[in-house]
Amino acid sequence: MRIQARTVAVVLAVGALSLVAAPSQANEGDVTYYRDVLPIIQDNCQSCHQPEGQNLGGVVAPMSFMNYAETRPWARAIAHKVEAREMPPWYASAPRDVFSNERLLTDAEIETLLSWVEAGAPAGDRADAPAPRQFVESTSDGWSLGTPDYVFKLDEPYFIEDDVYDLNISFFKTLTEAELPDDVWVRGWEFKTDAGKVGHHMCGFVRGPAPGERPVEEAAAEEGAAGSGQLLTCIAEGAEAVMLPDGYGLRLEAGSTLTYNMHYHKDPGEGTGIWTQPEIAFFVEDRPVRYQVINDSIGNTGFEIPPGHPNYRIGMSRTLDKDIQVLTYWPHAHLRGTASRYTAIYPDGREELLLDVPEYDQGWQETYKYKEPKLLPEGTRIDISFWYDNSEERGARYDFRASDTPGHGPRTDDEMSLGFIGYAVELDEPANTTDDD
Ligand code: HEC
Repeated sequence: MRIQARTVAVVLAVGALSLVAAPSQANEGDVTYYRDVLPIIQDNCQSCHQPEGQNLGGVVAPMSFMNYAETRPWARAIAHKVEAREMPPWYASAPRDVFSNERLLTDAEIETLLSWVEAGAPAGDRADAPAPRQFVESTSDGWSLGTPDYVFKLDEPYFIEDDVYDLNISFFKTLTEAELPDDVWVRGWEFKTDAGKVGHHMCGFVRGPAPGERPVEEAAAEEGAAGSGQLLTCIAEGAEAVMLPDGYGLRLEAGSTLTYNMHYHKDPGEGTGIWTQPEIAFFVEDRPVRYQVINDSIGNTGFEIPPGHPNYRIGMSRTLDKDIQVLTYWPHAHLRGTASRYTAIYPDGREELLLDVPEYDQGWQETYKYKEPKLLPEGTRIDISFWYDNSEERGARYDFRASDTPGHGPRTDDEMSLGFIGYAVELDEPANTTDDD
């Protein structure tokens, strides 16, 4: 429903623009596309808004903003989206400047874009244009970090049917002995969604073999993300590969099961169906590993959200039994989730806001990645809260029944309250040193 409403908005926006018959002539002093606007779009928009097949990872926005002709028809919509701070997508209000994947426009940049649209979106002088942005060079086989040691492609391609407009689905692959004979340390990983404009985002997980435990497929069917094991990352655009710092490694065990959690999103219609076969690649670390990366979650699964409640809070916490270096956060809720917050309470009582997402949007599963690992000492308590809106109004907008009492579950209209946290702990003995072998 929401998607259709958006499509209507696009049509209106484009329609409105054609009334602005202004030719692309710039007056003295006008903000112009080539001189003022393009640099902002290059830096903040093109990683997603580009033609299919050009970026890595393969997730691209439905419209490309690589040149004037492509951008101009969207001028009104751009003004609207940047003013509302809906584009570029970024949902954390705090802290600022600590996450490597932060996407924010400054007030001055927003002002420039608005003035440009106001002036009739003039092109200006092509000679003012900055050099085209160079996107991460891919290797010949399309990976940004070099040639991976292992590429695990889903065994069978999957067809996204013509009538699909919004689909969240998980695929699983258990690694055979031929595919991964031994446990290895990995230092990087990268995804390909193989779905172009239809891929909205992808999250990957890995769970080691656990004899006697139920298969990942079953656990995931009941618990969703929590049953899938360790989160690798989520990508909402290309080239969001993960490369750990030197000395850090994630243990990839032989016999592990990978989860490819996909969100597809397109206009339904005859001939719109496409085949997709996502891939997860790993880069092996042969050098000594001092810190083991663990992607854990602090969750609450025993809740029930009262029917009609407009602002229900669910909390959870954990006190650390050792020092950890935090690398990532991934707050995970479903349709009713409206906000999430992570706070540290240090052993001396001092509090620090670790992550504040005041307007959570389940359509964008963002992993927040620290530029530098964040140390939290033993004895620190991590408090996580999620807020939910189970009102009629939100139910009508997001297509769920507000008269329900949702608890923890994997379906989109169940709820989740999972605070994922990726961190590193120091190993007692460094791994991959020569005495191991
Ligand atoms: C992380 C990827 C990403 C980045 C970065 C990004 N966008 Fe988008 N954008 C999308 C996707 C995906 C959509 C499709 C609609 C949706 O999913 O919300 C979209 C949709 C849009 C739309 C169409 C909205 C409508 O009316 O349907 C506009 C306009 C837009 N983006 C402008 C921008 C601008 C301007 C920037 C940079 C300042 C930007 N975007 C940066 C991913 C991105």
